[in-house]
Amino acid sequence: MSKLLPIQWPAEAIWEAVSPLLPSFSVEILPQLDSTNSELMRRARAGQTDPILLVAESQTAGRGRLGREWLSQGASTPALTFSVGLPLHSPDWSGLSLVVGVSVATSLHPELQLKWPNDVWFQGRKLAGILIETLTMGSTRYAVIGVGLNIGPRESTGLSTAPAWLQELLPGVDAPQALLRIAPALLQAVQRFEAQGLAPFLKTYAVRDALAGRAVTLSDGTYGQAQGVDDSGALLVHTDAGLKKISSAEVSVRPS
Ligand code: BTN
Repeated sequence: MSKLLPIQWPAEAIWEAVSPLLPSFSVEILPQLDSTNSELMRRARAGQTDPILLVAESQTAGRGRLGREWLSQGASTPALTFSVGLPLHSPDWSGLSLVVGVSVATSLHPELQLKWPNDVWFQGRKLAGILIETLTMGSTRYAVIGVGLNIGPRESTGLSTAPAWLQELLPGVDAPQALLRIAPALLQAVQRFEAQGLAPFLKTYAVRDALAGRAVTLSDGTYGQAQGVDDSGALLVHTDAGLKKISSAEVSVRPS
C-alpha cells in the first residue's frame, strides 16, 4: 500500500526572506482549515495581528470574491491556498487588489495576464483568484490577502469558464515551489504599496491587462470597451454614455 509523504513546505526559506522586512513575521502550515482568510480574520478580531503567512493544505469552506465559494478538489488536483495577514497603513486602499495580482502574476510567469481587478489568467482562463478582506484597528487596518492557485488540472464543472493550472506553464511545479516564488515577492510588493501607493505598479498592470481594448459587460448590464485603469486602480470603460470609472463590479469579456 502506498503512503502519501508529508508535503515539504519551504517555511524556513520564506521566513528567512521576509523576516528582515517584517520582524514579527511568522509562517504557519496547517493540513486543513475552513478557509485561511476566515481563520486570519477570526484571529485579527481576537487581537492577533502580527504579520503571518498561513497555508492550508486543504480548505473545507474556501471563499471567493462577491460571496462565491472557492472549491477545493482534494489531493488528486493539487492547488495552493494561503493567506497573508498584516497591519497596513495606507491612505488609499483602492489599488491593493491590483498590486497583489501584479505581484502573483509577475512571480509566476511572463505570459500570465490580469483580469481586473485581480484574477490571474492564462490564455483567457482563470489560473488564480485573490480575495482581500480588511479589518479596521484604530487608525490602521489589518489586511488579509488570500490566494487560491490551481497547480494541477482542475475540473470545470460548475465554473463559468474552464480553469487553467500552473503545470501547463511550468511542468512539474508543485504547491511548495509556487509558494516560494509568490510569498516573499508578495510581501515585498505590499510593503512597497504601503510606502508608495499604486503608481509603481501601473506600468506592469498595463502590460498584463487582459481586458485592455476588449468589449466587456458590467454586472449592471452596461456594455463598453475596457480602456485600462486610472491612477486609483478603477477600471475605465468607454460606454455609449461616456467614460465610466468602475471601482467595484463584476466584469465579463464579451465574445468577439
Ligand atoms: C476569487 O477568485 O473569487 C477569489 C478566490 C480566493 C481563494 C483563496 S484560497 C485561500 C484564501 N482562503 C479563502 O477562503 N479564499 C482565499
